[in-house]
Amino acid sequence: MKASILVVEDNEDLCQTIADVMKREGYVVKTASSGEEALSKIERGLTDLVLLDIKLPKMSGLEVLAKLRDMTPDLLVIMITALTDARPAVEALKSGAYDYLLKPFELDELKLVVAKALETHRLKLEVARLKEQQRRRFPESGLYGESKAMQEVRNLISLVAETPRTSVLIQGESGTGKELVADDIHNRSSRADKPIIKINCAAIPENLLESELFGYEKGAFTDAKGTKRGLFELAHGGTIFLDEISSTRMALQPKLLRVLETSTFRRIGGTSDITIDVRIIAATNQNLEVCVRDGTFREDLLYRLKVMVINLPPLREHPEDIIPMAKLFLEQNNREFNKNIKSISPEAEEKMLNYAWPGNVRELKNVLERACILCKKEDIVPELLHLEPLDIRATMGTAAANGKKTAAASPSGLSAETLQEVEKQHILRTLDKYHNNKSKTAKMLNISRSTLREKLKEYGID
Ligand SMILES: Nc1ncnc2c1ncn2[C@@H]1O[C@H](COP(=O)(O)OP(=O)(O)OP(=O)(O)O)[C@@H](O)[C@H]1O
Ligand SMILES: [Mg+2]
Repeated sequence: MKASILVVEDNEDLCQTIADVMKREGYVVKTASSGEEALSKIERGLTDLVLLDIKLPKMSGLEVLAKLRDMTPDLLVIMITALTDARPAVEALKSGAYDYLLKPFELDELKLVVAKALETHRLKLEVARLKEQQRRRFPESGLYGESKAMQEVRNLISLVAETPRTSVLIQGESGTGKELVADDIHNRSSRADKPIIKINCAAIPENLLESELFGYEKGAFTDAKGTKRGLFELAHGGTIFLDEISSTRMALQPKLLRVLETSTFRRIGGTSDITIDVRIIAATNQNLEVCVRDGTFREDLLYRLKVMVINLPPLREHPEDIIPMAKLFLEQNNREFNKNIKSISPEAEEKMLNYAWPGNVRELKNVLERACILCKKEDIVPELLHLEPLDIRATMGTAAANGKKTAAASPSGLSAETLQEVEKQHILRTLDKYHNNKSKTAKMLNISRSTLREKLKEYGID
């Protein structure tokens, strides 16, 4: 599109000369002989650039410039001024003019200055457009954590995002951010403008999962009245997220393996192969090796999935992230609940650092949300942090990390110890940590001093 230029010059001859030259250069040209006329023309029409004489009758060029800066801050303005007095030109630059020409000027110089200004402006707009596009393609990750472990996760995400066909297995305890990682991979990849379809394999009845994923043909079973497309087909071009992949039936797993290996499958009751272009991301909070040993997960599928693995560490294994993450959640909550909580007290920080976070980042986020809602002052104090008073779940989490199935799946992992024994040991450890200071110990355990005293008596601890 041709750029549109307004020449503002009270010397009629000069005005006409400039206008002619500009027209010959291919611009759309308008003229004005006073500041007032210029302003009204700019207000009414599209103008890209103004050649503005500084010396005008009544309203001066500088005044016009000031008005323009308010009206249309993006408009390019080039001042024209007499050689004898360069001061106003300098002033004009300070007030936002793009450049100036000293009279008398060569026509070539005029052409050059105008072309350069328009080109620079065009580039500026182009950069802004690309930045915006970039921002949309790579939305800011919601994944917090600057520890080495989390940075490695982020590096892996970037790498994987660039290879849009690679399937990925995301492993990690509950609440470590597996879904967030899947979203990140999708959003940063070339598939971002296509859907990411998520399915929780544990939440769908086993017998329905296959038809959900692969669809069926009319007559495949009694109530298959028509053809139904499955999620794999719907995700075409995009990403499919198979959450809790360990819950899939053995009978379904070969079909999953086939899609992973060949990108083809058949609808239930179908006779022809369907080929799709989908990235498969699977997630699990179970140890799939153990599942293979237990005979609930096929080894060949595991090996195929293991080509690219992202392991999310439990929060207790990167404790240096706890406080910085808590602060980020605090900011988020301030915005969301319209609060102005300034900080987390040192005691509250200590309480968080002494906790095992069995529910990982999800638990940290929830604990902070609750604390922020309850907080009436400017800082988060330990009393606002509602933590599991005992580390029971953490003990179970450790059992899971040691290779047993997760706690929820086999609570028997704890059988060796009674609840009381765990409690007693935890109290002893905490007491030890605080050099037998009972107030501190009670505070950290989130119980009153009198409760602590009773428990000590009960367990015969002196
Ligand atoms: N590193 C992180 N930075 C910021 N938020 C996080 C992080 N990890 C988890 N979260 C938040 O914690 C919550 C749980 O995360 P997500 O659902 O991704 O966990 P998950 O590993 O899929 O858990 P589950 O196994 O229970 O499904 C979400 O609200 C998520 O935004
Ligand atoms: Mg999840």
